[in-house]
Amino acid sequence: MQPRPSRLRIVRTRSRRLRLAAARLMAASDPWLRLGIGRAGCLETIKTPYRELHVALRGSALEGLVLITMYGTFRGYIQALCVAPGARGGGLGGLLMRRAEERIFRDSPNVFLCVSSFNKGARRFYRRLGYRQAGLLKDLLVKGSDELLLRKTQGPLLP
Ligand SMILES: CC(C)(COP(=O)(O)OP(=O)(O)OC[C@H]1O[C@@H](n2cnc3c(N)ncnc32)[C@H](O)[C@@H]1OP(=O)(O)O)[C@@H](O)C(=O)NCCC(=O)NCCS
Repeated sequence: MQPRPSRLRIVRTRSRRLRLAAARLMAASDPWLRLGIGRAGCLETIKTPYRELHVALRGSALEGLVLITMYGTFRGYIQALCVAPGARGGGLGGLLMRRAEERIFRDSPNVFLCVSSFNKGARRFYRRLGYRQAGLLKDLLVKGSDELLLRKTQGPLLP
C-alpha cells in the first residue's frame, strides 16, 4: 500500500532550521539567483526585525514561503514569495498570497510588494490576484532591471 501523502499546512515560524531552508529555497531560484543574492543575503532578509516568515510544509519539507514586513508606512509589504520548483503551477503561490493578505488586512488596508521587470510569470500572477502598479523604481537593485511597486488596497490609511 502507498503511504498517504502528508497534508499541506501553512504556519508562521521563527525556527532556525526553517529560516535556513527558506533562504536556501530563495537563493536557488530566480529572481534572487539572477540578481546575485545568495543564501547569506536571503537569510539576512529573513532575519530582519519586524518580518514574519510563513511557510508551507508538507510533513517536515518546505514547499513554499511568504515573508511579510509589518512595520512603517509600507507595513503590509510582502518581501518575498517563493514556491519550490516542483510544487509550482498547482495553486500554492495563490494560497500563500491569500494567507499573507488575511494577515496584513487584519492590521492595515494595503498590501505592497515589488516584482522585477524581468519576472513576467510573477507579474501575470500578481495581476490576476488583483495587484496594480503603484510605482516604478528604476534600476533599484541592479542596472537595467526595474522594480515595479504593486499594491492591493481596501481603502485609505486614515478614517
Ligand atoms: C510566482 C510563484 C510564487 C507562483 O507560485 P505558484 O504556486 O506557481 O502559483 P499558482 O500555481 O498559484 O499560479 C500559477 C501562476 O504563477 C505564475 N508563475 C510564475 N512563475 C511560474 C513558474 N515557474 N511555474 C509555474 N507558474 C509560474 C504563472 O502566472 C502561473 O499562471 P499561468 O497559468 O498564467 O502561467 C512561483 O512561480 C515562484 O516561486 N516563482 C519564483 C519566485 C518568484 O518569482 N517569486 C515572486 C517574486 S516577486
